[in-house]
Amino acid sequence: MQSNFSTRLSERLREKLHVGIIMDGNGRWATRRGLSRLRGHEAGVEAIRRIVEAAPDQGIGTLTLYAFSTDNWRRPRTEVSALMGLLRFYLANEVQSLVRNGVRLHVIGRRDRLPDGIADAISRAEAATAAGETLHLRIAVDYSARDAILNAAVKLAGIAAPSRELFSDLVTGERGLRDVDLIIRTSGEKRLSDFLLWEGAYAELHFTERMWPEFDAADLTEALASFHRRERRFGGLQALSLEPAPSL
Ligand code: FPP
Repeated sequence: MQSNFSTRLSERLREKLHVGIIMDGNGRWATRRGLSRLRGHEAGVEAIRRIVEAAPDQGIGTLTLYAFSTDNWRRPRTEVSALMGLLRFYLANEVQSLVRNGVRLHVIGRRDRLPDGIADAISRAEAATAAGETLHLRIAVDYSARDAILNAAVKLAGIAAPSRELFSDLVTGERGLRDVDLIIRTSGEKRLSDFLLWEGAYAELHFTERMWPEFDAADLTEALASFHRRERRFGGLQALSLEPAPSL
């Protein structure tokens, strides 16, 4: 089940880039240092802070972070609870700073399987940050792109004249979300792992060896520089700087 629609993004944010990040390598970063995996995830939260702060100055209007996939429930119970504890902590402690920095938060994915109190904390954080105009931060929790597409298809059934735009809104849980321009994955893995499969259909991909806990503003600059060097043709013959033409 996808979360409720959020209100439409301002054009100012929509004109800026949408970047998705698969934050990978917390565990390896920690174990290589003789630390617990939890310590790696904690360092991962610090990396989130750095990147959320750096993103608006790098031309990013929407940032989608993959925090917990539907498949991550298969991890040992202690690790799942540690990750949920970090999410709870983030929601409780970060909202003031998000509001101060004009960050609007939207959590995507299922909410009905989260431990007690987290779904309410998410709703409160979203309401408190709803006026943010500097960055749209989407955090994917209990998220599966394939489930999001399947659920949208179920909702669309029975609608007389379905459009690609409506389907998009149903998949993303947002009105008029900009397609993803760039997906970054850290830690050297080169997979999409069920992340943003619909809205990332034309996304450029950037894979880096850096582990997520060490990823910083300079790494983001490097990823964006590589993105800006690419020619995006969206299936046509000429480079386009805007979104693809609507389908006929
Ligand atoms: C991948 O590293 C990372 C995750 C599965 C979780 C990402 C979570 C955070 C950055 C912190 C919690 C998030 C919030 C929003 C509070 P891995 O554990 O798969 O690393 P490995 O592949 O090296 O084992």
